[in-house]
Amino acid sequence: MESNEVLKTIRERRSIFKYKDEDVSNENIDTILEAGRWAPSFANLQPWNFVVVKDKETKKKLYKIARRITLFREGIEEAPVVIATAVDQEADPNHFVEAGAVASQNMALAAHSLGLSSYWIGVFDIDSEKNSAEKDVIEVLGLSDDARVISLLPVGKRDQERTSERKDLEEIVTRE
Ligand SMILES: Cc1cc2nc3c(=O)[nH]c(=O)nc-3n(C[C@H](O)[C@H](O)[C@H](O)COP(=O)(O)O)c2cc1C
Repeated sequence: MESNEVLKTIRERRSIFKYKDEDVSNENIDTILEAGRWAPSFANLQPWNFVVVKDKETKKKLYKIARRITLFREGIEEAPVVIATAVDQEADPNHFVEAGAVASQNMALAAHSLGLSSYWIGVFDIDSEKNSAEKDVIEVLGLSDDARVISLLPVGKRDQERTSERKDLEEIVTRE
């Protein structure tokens, strides 16, 4: 099967929950954000607001909130930077989730291509409950009432090896 740098990056990116105590350069952060910016969005509305969190206290607050969600893993506090992908749901009421999702994945792939790692912390609460982790993240980050948070991506140098599996194509593809 054909391979190239893009396909290799897609194939080899893994969710990483432990990071080395090493900074991520501002240049690399900007490169990752740039990958988010070039994601597609419905009618090119680009409803994103990427929040770059380096402040230790803010990361600690995010960590305490994220602990409440299912499947929570460590990593927020040690990662030198956490990128929150927020979207304005008023700006794109029909497709704000997808807009946030494609941008998040673009950034995760960009991080991997730079020798960095990340993982997707799914704080998004589909029911938009009052006391949800998502609402608390919105408050901690000082976002507007129309903001929704699709992902938190801790980003840093990986300090663990991980593998993961996928279903066989035959299981998930229907060819008509
Ligand atoms: C929408 C979404 C939400 C996710 N939320 C979490 C999460 O809250 N905690 C977590 O540890 N991983 C989360 N992940 C990462 C998945 O668990 C991970 O991508 C999956 O297990 C496959 O592993 P891999 O990314 O290493 O291939 C999320 C991924 C997506 C796409």
